Amino acid sequence: MDNGKQNNFRPRYRARIKATGSFTPPDVLTNADLERMVDTSDEWITTRTGIKERRIASKEMSGVDMSVKAVEIALSDAGWAPEDVQLLIVGTVTPDYRLPSNSCVIQERMGLVNAGTMDIAAACAGFIHGLAIASAFIESGQLERIVVVGVEKLSSITNYKDRGTCILFGDGAGATAVERTEEDRGVLASFLKSDGRLGKLLWIPVGGTVAPYQEAMRNGGINNGEDCLAMNGSEVFKHAVRQMGDAALNVIKQANMTTEDINLVVPHQANIRIIEAVTKRLGVPDDRVFINIEKYGNTSSASVPLALDEARRSGRIKDGDNVLMIAFGGGLTWAAALVNW
Ligand code: ACO
Repeated sequence: MDNGKQNNFRPRYRARIKATGSFTPPDVLTNADLERMVDTSDEWITTRTGIKERRIASKEMSGVDMSVKAVEIALSDAGWAPEDVQLLIVGTVTPDYRLPSNSCVIQERMGLVNAGTMDIAAACAGFIHGLAIASAFIESGQLERIVVVGVEKLSSITNYKDRGTCILFGDGAGATAVERTEEDRGVLASFLKSDGRLGKLLWIPVGGTVAPYQEAMRNGGINNGEDCLAMNGSEVFKHAVRQMGDAALNVIKQANMTTEDINLVVPHQANIRIIEAVTKRLGVPDDRVFINIEKYGNTSSASVPLALDEARRSGRIKDGDNVLMIAFGGGLTWAAALVNW
C-alpha cells in the first residue's frame, strides 16, 4: 500500500494475478440508438468520449449473473475448484440487493463454500481497491487464493433522459484469480485514496436511508431521475485527470520504476480524453495503453478487470510485463496498482 515513497520492503509473499475472465451482455446500445432517445449525436459522443456502443443487460440478467460467468472463466483458467477460493471480493455500486451483498449471492450460486466475502463500494475504483485488499491479505501470509470481481449493471441507475450521463454507461463484469507466490512478481505496489468532500459531484440522491424511495414516492414521486446517477461531468473530468496521474506516479515510485518500465497501462475506461490526458502527462506512448472504451463505454467497477481480461487474451500482456492499472470514480475515489505479470 502507499507510503508515498520508494518501497524497498520485499515481502515474503506476493499476490499474482493467475487468471482472468470477463462477461458482457449481448445487447448493444449504439450511439445511433441514443440519437433517437436524447438530443445528441454520434459525432458529439465519439469526439467527446470515444464511445461508439455499450452493452446493456436485459431485465432478467443481474450483476450476479454476469459475475458468475466471469468468475467461471477465471476459475477454469486458474485450474481452481470453487472450494479452493478463500476470499471473494466484489467491487460494485449496483448490487442485486441492498442485502445480502453481491459477494454472498455469488458465493452461494458458485458453491464457494470456503470463502469469506465482501463488497466494495468505490465505484470505478472498486476493482483496484479489491485487488489491493487481496494483495494485503496474501502478503500478510493469511490467505493464498482470492477472487476479485468488478461488476456493474449501470443501466439500472442511468437516467436515459439525461444526455450528460446516459451516453457514458454500460454493463459488464470482470474477474481475476489472485494467488500467493514466493516469486518477486505480482502486485508490486498499490495506492488508494478518496475525497468525500467531492461526493456530490457524482451521486445518486434518492434511494439510501437519508432519502428513501418510500418517502420520495409519498412526496410526489421520482420524476427527474433522482434515483439515478447525477454528475457534474466537467468537474469530475478535471479531478480524474489530476488524481489518476498522481496515483500512477505514486505506484511507479513505490516500485522503484520509471514510466519507461511500464509495458502496458490498463486505465479505467471513462472517457478517451481523460485516458489521453493522463497518459500524455505520464509520457506513456499510445501503443502502451489499452483502450476498449469504444465497445463498452464506462462500466465503472467492471472497467479495469474487463480491459485486463481483453488485454491478456489479445496477447497485449505477456509474462514479466509491468502492467499499470489506474482508476477514478464516484466518492470521489481513485486508485492504482502496478503488477509484474
Ligand atoms: N450530446 C450533445 N451535447 C451534450 C451532451 C450530449 N450527450 N452532453 C452534454 N452536452 C452539451 C452540454 O449541455 C454543454 O452544452 P452548453 O455548452 O450549451 O451548456 C456542452 O455539451 C458541454 O458540456 P460539458 O459537460 O462541459 O462537456 P464535456 O466536454 O465536459 O463532456 C462528459 C461531458 C463526457 C460527461 C465529460 O465531462 C466526462 O467524461 N466527465 C467525466 C465522467 C467520469 O469520468 N465519471 C467518473 C466515473 S463514473 C462512476 O463513478 C460511476
